[in-house]
Amino acid sequence: MTTPLDALPLHVLRTRTSSKWMRYPDDVLPLFVAETDFALAEPVERVLLDAVRRGDTGYAPPGDSRIPMAFAGFAARRFGWQVDPARVRTTCDVMMGVAELLRAVTAPGDRVVITPPVYPPFFDVHDESRTVAESVPLLRSDEGWTLDLAGIDRAFAGGARAILLCNPHNPTGTVHDAGTLAELARIAQRHGAWVISDEIHAPLTLPGATFTPFLTAAPEAAEVGFALTSASKAFNLAGLKCAFIVTAADEPARIVRRIPDEVEWRTSILGLIAGEAALSLGDAWLDALLARLDTNRHLLSDLLAEHAPGALYRPPQAGFLAWVDFTALGWGEDPAALILKAARVALNPGPSFGEPGRGFARINIGTGPEILSEALRRIGALRAS
Ligand SMILES: Cc1ncc(COP(=O)(O)O)c(C=O)c1O
Repeated sequence: MTTPLDALPLHVLRTRTSSKWMRYPDDVLPLFVAETDFALAEPVERVLLDAVRRGDTGYAPPGDSRIPMAFAGFAARRFGWQVDPARVRTTCDVMMGVAELLRAVTAPGDRVVITPPVYPPFFDVHDESRTVAESVPLLRSDEGWTLDLAGIDRAFAGGARAILLCNPHNPTGTVHDAGTLAELARIAQRHGAWVISDEIHAPLTLPGATFTPFLTAAPEAAEVGFALTSASKAFNLAGLKCAFIVTAADEPARIVRRIPDEVEWRTSILGLIAGEAALSLGDAWLDALLARLDTNRHLLSDLLAEHAPGALYRPPQAGFLAWVDFTALGWGEDPAALILKAARVALNPGPSFGEPGRGFARINIGTGPEILSEALRRIGALRAS
């Protein structure tokens, strides 16, 4: 049994200057933006301190093999996925990679499928790529959330040129199954459409689920797909700015090579150094984090039953984001607004994830059990008021 990772205490977290800790005053418990509350993995801290001491803070060398090699090792160990390091190209962050890939495979005005409820920048990135989002909502059932393959097929038949896939899915925590992804690949190929698969949460796949890298789901997937990922979500390195695009067939690889060199120059060297250490030396720390998240996702079930009975929640299969339906509590379309104002807990508003998010809020469980319990106690007090 791996011992769950401990979070940093609140008084230390409050000295952080990241978005999570700066947006609200100190009486608010922040459980919103996707940052986590743990100390860095020791190998990551060590290489960063060493780089800073040496002043190794210049440009990341284009074509550097450190991240490609480290990710190939990580993907083989964690997912059984054989990645060719020659087909990994770095960039600044995942969303910049998405914008560049969309620009590369679409023309201005083209429609791109997104599957709400989904990570809000999937709606906004189209301002950068000059594309238009076409929503094909996830299907909700008692078993969870799934892609609406028939709806996606219709959207492609109607001219949509690509889909922005979120696998694992933010905010529902769904790990799409291999059969669904294989069928998506075949549908995309039939219509000559592209699949851009954002796999940033994949290293956080939790016990009981198996992550399928999109590019491995079927032979067609490699032909139509691009994967985008980073060590940043699992290892809390978002501010260090290093993500990468992976391909597994000639044509997608050629498209990635055509992306301007400037995009690769925007990779941060500290992100590259930290990412390499995380992906090659971080497994034990990551396992302890997964044990913490596994505990927390079940703790949240108990806390909701105690403090917000009627709230509907399915523990995520991956990641540290919990998607909670507060409709039964009568807190309106945007429960996060009331919870912030009256309970002083900051969550992500459900409606920012699209129309199906009405009545929901997203809770970041990437923290310690004390903070999570205190947040739910505060939310529970709303029912009495
Ligand atoms: C699905 C998904 N993609 C991308 C990102 C952001 O990644 P980056 O900071 O590398 O753009 C997030 C952040 O939470 C995310 O949840």
